[in-house]
Amino acid sequence: MAAIAGKNILVTGGAGFIGSHLCDGLLAEGAAKVVCVDNFFLGKMENLEDALSHDNFVLYRDDARNFGVLLAIMEKEEIEVVYNMATIALNYSFFNPFDAYMVNVEIANTLLELLKVGAYRTLVHTSSSEAYGTALYSPMDENHPTDPTTPYAAGKAAADLMVHSFYKVLGLDISIVRPFNNYGPRQNAQGSLAAIIPATARRMKEGGKPMVEGDGEQTRDFIYVADTVRGLILAYEKEESRGKIINLGSGKDISINTLLQGICDYMGYTGDWERRPARTSDVRNLCADSKRAKELLGFEPQTGFEEGIKKTLDWYMKRI
Ligand SMILES: NC(=O)c1ccc[n+]([C@@H]2O[C@H](COP(=O)([O-])OP(=O)(O)OC[C@H]3O[C@@H](n4cnc5c(N)ncnc54)[C@H](O)[C@@H]3O)[C@@H](O)[C@H]2O)c1
Repeated sequence: MAAIAGKNILVTGGAGFIGSHLCDGLLAEGAAKVVCVDNFFLGKMENLEDALSHDNFVLYRDDARNFGVLLAIMEKEEIEVVYNMATIALNYSFFNPFDAYMVNVEIANTLLELLKVGAYRTLVHTSSSEAYGTALYSPMDENHPTDPTTPYAAGKAAADLMVHSFYKVLGLDISIVRPFNNYGPRQNAQGSLAAIIPATARRMKEGGKPMVEGDGEQTRDFIYVADTVRGLILAYEKEESRGKIINLGSGKDISINTLLQGICDYMGYTGDWERRPARTSDVRNLCADSKRAKELLGFEPQTGFEEGIKKTLDWYMKRI
């Protein structure tokens, strides 16, 4: 078993939603140093308030696609482990499909080149359940075919193939984690790249109605962000994960109608909902088979949906 404690760790996209929680989690686990590289496309300084209070947290505002930049940082900070969390949110696919795809591929490419030349030792690469596309069977194990429906998801799937092939050809120290839909504090609440829970909370707090696209019967597997962070840490520590793709999900699918009703109940809202046409390319159903995570990592989510959504909405109500 490898230990996070005592390691120098770089997190790409560490100022984002999951990445910032991961930075906090790594610091709490006793990492010697946590180095965040984020270009602040969607990252926020406020996400790093806790991390910045630690002397062993270092922040670089830079682009994780840039080989020279990352090499210099890795040498200076003596990086041993990299968590690749940087991306541009799925909705970017609808107005800049090329970059939505390329950012995922280019960052993975840079990190693999750096791993190949020995700039660091271990890569924990983050995939997405979106790489699968709509469930052909449910729950979806890691052998489920990949059929991405957006350029974001195609970029995730392409990066996964590249990362996995480098493991196979070069035997590099690599794990691939495939989270399902994350929720929790710090998820982006603003603009066209906002996630559904904070976007709905914001709309309703500002006096708007909940908005549903399509019939609302599309389902997602929601996992609370603290559980994902635990899974990511285990994916480094348990070396049985090397060379594997590992789902991180709750194993339960929840419809968007049920999710929105939960937010309405929390807010005491009984009015009507705004209905819009279904989004093109929306995945219909996603639900994780979590057997591999349990077998290899001993991972099981600890936060149920009711508890998680309450914690999340409590957090947003104070801040938006
Ligand atoms: N949020 C989810 O539900 C979910 C589900 C499955 C997988 N994932 C994956 O988890 C990871 C983190 O997702 P998130 O929800 O925290 O996203 P996020 O958008 O909140 O965070 C991504 C971060 O990457 C940064 N970034 C973008 N381009 C960059 C670049 N070129 N160089 C450096 N930084 C850059 C952004 O500024 C942002 O801070 C991603 O790989 C994502 O695909 C997320």
